[in-house]
Amino acid sequence: MNITTTYMGLKLKNPIIVASSGLSKSVDGISKLADAGAGAIVIKSLFEEQVLAETQEIEKHIGLDSHTEALDYIRNYGSQNSALEYLNLIKEAKKAVSIPIIASLNCISSKGWIDYAKKLENNGADGLELNIAFITNDPKSDSKEIESKYYDIVEQITQQVSIPISIKLGPYFSSLAHFTQGLKQRGVQGIVLFNRFYRMDFDINKIDLVSGSRFSSPREISLPLHWISLLSSKIECDFSASTGIHDGEGAIKLLLAGAKTVQLCSTLYKNKFTRIGEILKDIEEWMNKQNFESLDSFRGKLSRGKSDQSEKFDRLQYIKAIVGIE
Ligand SMILES: Cc1cc2nc3c(=O)[nH]c(=O)nc-3n(C[C@H](O)[C@H](O)[C@H](O)COP(=O)(O)O)c2cc1C
Repeated sequence: MNITTTYMGLKLKNPIIVASSGLSKSVDGISKLADAGAGAIVIKSLFEEQVLAETQEIEKHIGLDSHTEALDYIRNYGSQNSALEYLNLIKEAKKAVSIPIIASLNCISSKGWIDYAKKLENNGADGLELNIAFITNDPKSDSKEIESKYYDIVEQITQQVSIPISIKLGPYFSSLAHFTQGLKQRGVQGIVLFNRFYRMDFDINKIDLVSGSRFSSPREISLPLHWISLLSSKIECDFSASTGIHDGEGAIKLLLAGAKTVQLCSTLYKNKFTRIGEILKDIEEWMNKQNFESLDSFRGKLSRGKSDQSEKFDRLQYIKAIVGIE
C-alpha cells in the first residue's frame, strides 16, 4: 500500500503535516514529531511584529531615546538577533530530521516579507508557508483592495525565492475561487484552508473581553471539507487542509475532498504525538478495506468536480424539498 504523496513539489512519505504552532518551535519538539511519523512539519511562524516588539523591549531597557546612531544599531541588532534564533532553528531542524521542513512567515512590512523569505530559503527551509491575514473594519476598503495586498506580497516573494510557496488563508473571502486562482497565477503552489485565528469572546458577568477556545473541535472540519471539495478540481494547486482534523476519519474525509495533505494541530495538543501513528493506521486500514492501493486512487473522489451530485456542494440554504428540513 502506498501512502506517499507530493505537496507543492515536495515528496512526503505520508500526507500528515504538523501545522505551524508552538509544537514545532524547538528542535526537540520537531524531532519528536518526526519520530512520531509526521510526513512534514511547518515550523511555528516567525512574526515580524514579535521581532519588532522584542527590539523595542531591548531599547526600553537600554534607555536610548535620542542617540539615533546607537538606536539604529540596537534596532538592527535586536531584529537580527530574534530572526537569527528562528533561522538557527530551521538549520538545526534540517540536521535533526529527514522529512521536509516548511518555514512559516507572518510580516507587517513588505521589506520584512522579502528579507525574511530570502533568509529562510538560504537557511535550508524546504518550503515557505505564508501566514497572511488582514482584518479590516474600514467601510472604505473593498475586497479588491484587500486581495491585492495578498497578491503584492506573493508576487514579491515568488520573484525572490525559488523554494515552493504556500499560503495559509482564513475563510473570509467573497470569492475564494477567483482569489485562489489569482494566487496560483502568481506562483503559489500550495493553499492551506483554513487558518484558525485567535477567537475572542465576552464574559457577560465581568462585562469584559476574554479569549475563546484555543483549540478546535472535530465539528469544525466542515468548513475546510466544503471548500476543498469545491475548489480542488477547479484550481490547479495543492490543497492542504487545516482546522478540525482530529482523527483518521477526518483525514480520510479531506483526502476524499481532494486535499494533498492534512495538517494537525489541536489534536496533537490534546492527545499525545502518537496520534499521528493512529491516524496513519486508520487511513491504511480504511484503504485496505476499500481496496485502494494509493492515495491517488481515491483522492478527490468526493470533490465537486468528480461528483454527480454537484448541486449538493453548491447548496447553502435549507429548503425542505431538498434537505428535508425547514
Ligand atoms: C497554540 C497554537 C499556536 C498556533 N500558532 C500558529 C502559528 O504560529 N502560525 C500559524 O500559521 N498557525 C498557528 N496556529 C494555527 C494552527 O496551525 C492551525 O491552523 C489551527 O489550530 C487549526 O488546526 P486544528 O484544528 O488542527 O487545531 C496555532 C494554533 C494553536 C492552537
